[in-house]
Formats: sequence, C-alpha cells, structure tokens
Amino acid sequence: MLQKANTATDFTVETRDVRLDYGELTAVDNVNLRITAGEIYGLVGPNGAGKTSLLKMLSNLIRPTYGEIFINGTDLAEDPWKVHREVGYMPDLSPVAPELKVWEFLEFFAAAYGIPRTERKQRVAECLEQVKMTEHREAFGKGLSRGMMQRVVLAKTLIPHPRILILDEPASGMDPLARINLKRILVELGREGITSIVSSHILTELGDMCTSLGIMHKGALVRSGDKASLLIDHPVHTRTLSILSRHSDKDAETVVSILNSSEHVADVARQDMVFVLSFSGDEEAEADLLKELILAEIKVTSFSRESASMEDVLIKLVSPLEDVDVVSLQDIAEEQAHD
Ligand SMILES: Nc1ncnc2c1ncn2[C@@H]1O[C@H](COP(=O)(O)OP(=O)(O)O)[C@@H](O)[C@H]1O
Ligand SMILES: [Mg+2]
Repeated sequence: MLQKANTATDFTVETRDVRLDYGELTAVDNVNLRITAGEIYGLVGPNGAGKTSLLKMLSNLIRPTYGEIFINGTDLAEDPWKVHREVGYMPDLSPVAPELKVWEFLEFFAAAYGIPRTERKQRVAECLEQVKMTEHREAFGKGLSRGMMQRVVLAKTLIPHPRILILDEPASGMDPLARINLKRILVELGREGITSIVSSHILTELGDMCTSLGIMHKGALVRSGDKASLLIDHPVHTRTLSILSRHSDKDAETVVSILNSSEHVADVARQDMVFVLSFSGDEEAEADLLKELILAEIKVTSFSRESASMEDVLIKLVSPLEDVDVVSLQDIAEEQAHD
C-alpha cells in the first residue's frame, strides 16, 4: 500500500499539513514540523499564534481538523495509546497540591499512572533526581517557589517514562536562575534521548535553551530549523563603536563622514559618542575601518561586535508578513519635507 510506505519517518515528531479549526477560526494552518530525537526544540510566537493548539495536537489532546501527526514513526490517528504513553505534556498552568509534600504528590501520580506499589518510591526518587529536587522532597507544595513548582510538575510528567516532553510556556515568570536550571535539566534529559518541545511568546526565554527553533505566526510555522542556521540565513551584524567622550563636534563629524563613506556601513545610530552600526564587512574590513578612524586621530575606546540577536531575526522574519507596512523615521521625514 502506497500510503503505508509513506508513513516511515526518521523524525521523533513529524506533522504533515496539520491544520486546526475552531469553527470559523483556523488556529493552526498547514504546519509541517520535523524534530529529531534528543533535541530541545523551541516554539516561539506571539500570543494567539497557535502554539498551545499545536502542542495539544501533538499530545493527542485535540484532534487535527486536517493532516497527520507521527510520533516516533507511529501515526497518532492509528495508535493514539502508544503515542499517549510516549508523550508527556506539561500545560502552561499546572498546579502542585499545596497541602501535600513533594514526594506525596508524586507518589499519588505514580499510583495513578499504574506504577506498581513496590516500584513507586524508586520511580519517584529517580524523577526527583532528574529535576534536581531530591533535597526538597519533604517540602510542602505551598512552600515552593515558582521555579521549584515547575520542576515538581516536570517530575510528575516524567514518571511514566515519556520519550517526548512537551512543555507549554514553562519559563513564563521564571527568574533567570530557574531558567538556567530548566535548561540544565532538559540538556541532561536530551542526553538520555528524551526530546523536549518548549514554547514561549518571548524569544529570549528560549534563545539559549534550545538547539533548534520554530517560529509561529498567525497559525503558520514561518521558519523551523537549527538555531545556528537560522542565524546564518538571517545575519544582522551590528558593531558598537565608542570613542573618547572628551570629544569635539569636529571629531563627531569626522567619525560620521568616515562611517558614511564606508561601503560596509548601512545604518548608523548615535548616542553621544557611541555609534551603533549595521556592518556587512568581514574582519579585515572592520580592521580597515578602525585604522581609518585612528589615522584621522579619533580616540577609539572600544569597537565591539555583536552577532544577530534572536529578536532581530524574529523581526526580520515576521515583519514582511505583517499586514501593516513598517515605516521608517526617514520615510516620515521625507514625506513631511514634501508637504
Ligand atoms: N478552545 C478554543 N476555541 C476557540 N478558539 C480558540 C480556542 N483555543 C484557542 N483559540 C484561538 O486560537 C488561536 C490560537 O490560540 P493558541 O493556540 O492558544 O495560541 P498561543 O498558544 O500561541 O497563544 C487564538 O486566536 C485563540 O484565540
Ligand atoms: Mg499558549
């Protein structure tokens, strides 16, 4: 059968033309997602982009209106129970019982998951270790910080040995330390072959946590791939140039004229004697520019390079898709000059 031959897939998660309609509204549109085992995949997009809807379909909590989902090569529609055992879903708001101790809460769920009585303590201990909460096993739910609560819920999600973890907005409201802890946990789980899919509406929450990224916008998966190639495909190089603050206006003019005459400088933003440049040249071009400034007796105190931030990449990817035109300040100034 042709259809059967077509179902083989090497990906841990694969969707084909997946769509989800809520009545008239198409929340997820034509999504083709491919995720390899052990990855930490970040799903980024503004509120309403369709992230939760997509993640719920992967977790078999909502059925797609159209399209197919494969989990470890199995068609979700054909064997939903196998898939159900392999995917652990952690919703965005998931409470911990306030009056239970951490281990009591987890043993309760171990029982609910059908772990035999003689194995429950062991399994709970393993999961607590995986989320680095062993030393807090006696704490009550109500006494936990937000980050710790999240880790307990993660431990709960790990109990039935899922191969794929789906975490919807786990980092929202987390402090930076809690985020670093979460990252460490997911990296370690990745080494055991557990794939994580993590969503956020804030790119910087996920930027350094993930190995690959998908960007969702109005139901569509706009881009998907490993993080490094996403950045290489969309370079936004900037350089920050600072010159000595005891400057004269003449110095500033000289700097501006040198920058403007460089073929590698596109935009220049200036605040006092700090200049931020969009720079397209290589290292040699950078050194040449610096040399030129110094020969003109400009006292450069620093000249630093920043690679594209994830925010820059997102803006570049999404802004052409927006319905509204992005108007630059220069356009406005030109328009006013014409009036
Ligand atoms: N149960 C529902 N019924 C109707 N519309 C919904 C439902 N859930 C979500 N939506 C709509 O679907 C779109 C995508 O929502 P959602 O998947 O929650 O996006 P995200 O998680 O990226 O914020 C939004 O426009 C939202 O209002
Ligand atoms: Mg959501």
